[in-house]
Amino acid sequence: MLTMTRNIPFILFVLISWTLMVSTDEQNSDRARLLAEKQVLNKYLVENKDILINYNIFNVGSSSAINVKLSDNTFSLAHFDIVGGSLKFTIPRIAPQSNTTHTVVVRPKEGIWGRFNFTAGELIYSSEGSNELQYGYTSEPGDGYIVSLKEFDKRFSPHYYDWAAFLIISMATVLLPYLLWNGSKNKYEKLSARKTK
Ligand SMILES: *[C@@H]1O[C@H](CO)[C@@H](O)[C@H](O)[C@H]1NC(C)=O
Ligand SMILES: *[C@@H]1O[C@H](CO)[C@@H](O)[C@H](O)[C@H]1NC(C)=O
Repeated sequence: MLTMTRNIPFILFVLISWTLMVSTDEQNSDRARLLAEKQVLNKYLVENKDILINYNIFNVGSSSAINVKLSDNTFSLAHFDIVGGSLKFTIPRIAPQSNTTHTVVVRPKEGIWGRFNFTAGELIYSSEGSNELQYGYTSEPGDGYIVSLKEFDKRFSPHYYDWAAFLIISMATVLLPYLLWNGSKNKYEKLSARKTK
């Protein structure tokens, strides 16, 4: 009994905050809301070789997003060349519940290798019929390691020989049973030939 009366203020508090949450949700119900994912599509990051960066922007709101500006200032021009696409772009409109993707190709300059932290790009947009600016960030792909060209070649060129060895071994595993089968087949044919005589 005592514990129940003690809990009443707490229950009231929960009810009130729940109502507040619902009402702020209602206020936002006719707005655009963008989620943006930034992805690094490469398996290997290598000095002086292309890196594909993909931005996937998804409008989870119930109104169109207008004049969506994404700018990614995380690739300094001292370290990277922009080979394809643009790190600052504008999408005139993203309808509710739909996605837009954009791909950019950057290339670490010669002599640029080591740990690199891929961090977030920035989003500015507004909801249809409103002048209010809304702000957001893309996801952060996080830490990556750009391998020097020298190290990359050292690690991956010798695989040539590995492949050659692999081919010889797999040829043996195919050829050997064939030779055995062929041998026994010949024997069997000789046997059956003798029988029919
Ligand atoms: C939109 O993006 C989400 C999350 O990445 C994905 O699950 C969905 O399939 C995408 N839809 C379209 C139409 O591309
Ligand atoms: C990468 O950058 C983000 C944002 O600046 C930071 O929170 C995170 O700790 C960094 N990661 C590393 C491994 O430095």
